Amino acid sequence: MSGERLDRFLANRGKGSRSVIKHIIKSGRVAVNGICIRIPEYKINEGDTVALDGNIVENEKYVYIMLNKPSGVVSSTEDPRDTAVTDIIGKEYKSLGLFPVGRLDKDTTGLIILTNDGAFAHNSLSPSKHVEKRYIAYVEGDVNDDTVKKFRDGIELKDFTTKSAELIIKEKKDGLTVAEVALREGKFHQIKRMFEAEGCKVVHLKRISFGKIKLDEGLDEGEYRLLDDNEREYVKAVSRGGAVQ
Ligand code: URA
Repeated sequence: MSGERLDRFLANRGKGSRSVIKHIIKSGRVAVNGICIRIPEYKINEGDTVALDGNIVENEKYVYIMLNKPSGVVSSTEDPRDTAVTDIIGKEYKSLGLFPVGRLDKDTTGLIILTNDGAFAHNSLSPSKHVEKRYIAYVEGDVNDDTVKKFRDGIELKDFTTKSAELIIKEKKDGLTVAEVALREGKFHQIKRMFEAEGCKVVHLKRISFGKIKLDEGLDEGEYRLLDDNEREYVKAVSRGGAVQ
């Protein structure tokens, strides 16, 4: 962080927009090496300790955001027609080069992680260690014990046979089956295609977990937050090449 401006340092670590951070600094809430600094342009150096309201701000170059993706938003960093997941994230994150880890269909809602940690994305998506992802699917048609077995044994699709997947029938509601599906792979439209192969149709799909990271139920669609310390510990372990669930 040699020579980095204090306001930029805090913005890049998700502490607020540049204008909010300027205000925070000017109001005396930020200290560098224990000394209150009220100058947003103040340059900090390697080894300096920055604290906000008495709490040390980790000098961490990677950012991890949990987003509850709404329907109608695409899982990319930009799109000529549609809103991209990175368009939803506040301006303070714009310069960080965030991208989504994996893809959800445009109409799929739920958990997607945005980061600038390429090793985490690579390790969590690599076929050899694909992390488990869980979804809630609302399905039309006859979903029964035989479907559960088919998901477990693998379903032959046109271009590949699926790996063993867990299907749990949760309830039957309004003519639909509500089911939980856990996959360790992520081919294009995979869950929709698996149900389709069994004569059923997914009418809504929501991702509820990615490895050990669970979608925060307090986040409405379109809302996001930084991963907390426990979640970051898991992500760091995956990033280093271990701890995949
Ligand atoms: N399976 C699908 O069919 N769609 C998704 O978005 C994710 C998994």
